[in-house]
Amino acid sequence: MYTSNLGMPELRQELSRHLKNNYNLEYDPDSELLITVGVSEALDLTMRALLDPGDEVIMPDPCYVSYNPCVILAGGTPIMVPANEETNFEISATDIEARITSQTKAILIGYPANPTGAVMTRDKLAQIAEVARRHQLLVISDEIYAKLVYGVRHACFATLPGMKESTILLGGFSKSYAMTGWRIGYAAAPKETIASMTKIHQYTMMCAPTMGQVAAIEALKSGEDSATEMVEDYNRRRLIIIKGLNDIGLPCFEPRGAFYAFPSIKGTGMTSEEFAERLLIEEKVAVVPGSAFGQCGEGYVRCCYATSLADIDEALSRMKRFVAKHRMV
Ligand SMILES: Cc1ncc(COP(=O)(O)O)c(C=O)c1O
Repeated sequence: MYTSNLGMPELRQELSRHLKNNYNLEYDPDSELLITVGVSEALDLTMRALLDPGDEVIMPDPCYVSYNPCVILAGGTPIMVPANEETNFEISATDIEARITSQTKAILIGYPANPTGAVMTRDKLAQIAEVARRHQLLVISDEIYAKLVYGVRHACFATLPGMKESTILLGGFSKSYAMTGWRIGYAAAPKETIASMTKIHQYTMMCAPTMGQVAAIEALKSGEDSATEMVEDYNRRRLIIIKGLNDIGLPCFEPRGAFYAFPSIKGTGMTSEEFAERLLIEEKVAVVPGSAFGQCGEGYVRCCYATSLADIDEALSRMKRFVAKHRMV
């Protein structure tokens, strides 16, 4: 059975309630929410609905791999802002403002971040909001990791003063409820934006998978306790992997969100691609080269700790052997 193009009414109602309970945000389930095939589709729809050829979208470097291509595929131009380790992998409002031109349409951010695990405080996000307001820019906020934060609070961008009307909030079930294969995400935005996105969605996807939507309703209704337990578990793994990587000699920034560690591999003298390839071949441990996420990701690799403690331990001991063998003298 197909569902409404917008997604099942019950799911939109549950989601509306969820956003109200978590952030005190009011989204009309009939016109301001669209259920999508993961945040992946929501990102693509947002860009295709909003961008005219040549429009510029400012985003952090490094960032999630599909941000840049989604903008290009929609005819836009990505403008990268360095989000370096020196600034805790955050982007600054000043750096964003310095890149604004008459072509700038939107700022695209995603915190907690993939690949760095960085989280931005409400105060720092408020500075970005202030720049967006002053230049009348839209903000696309990918908050797929909203629930996966450790010892800090997630700040939802749309809750910043005056921002709900110019924010396209993207969220989903893949990470917070460990439901990657069910392919459910959503966009929450002003009704004109949702209407434009729905035009594309209805002729390309028809609707998000029905079974996934039923599962998402269940996740919202009864999955909170399991999600909280999972966050505690991720936190244990996070502390072990961060300590382990630092002990091995791969200095690692402390990520406060998502489920990634992003250690520096500069001490090995290898590029991040060489490091990842040789580690895979020599020790059968898979990490992602930081350069896959942007130029500023060079010199780092992304390690995902959404796996068992036993596998994390084993990976760390193999990486220790690998680093000892290749450390520059
Ligand atoms: C930051 C970020 N956004 C979006 C996605 C895509 O998620 P989905 O499974 O909802 O399509 C991912 C997946 O890794 C991600 O890390």
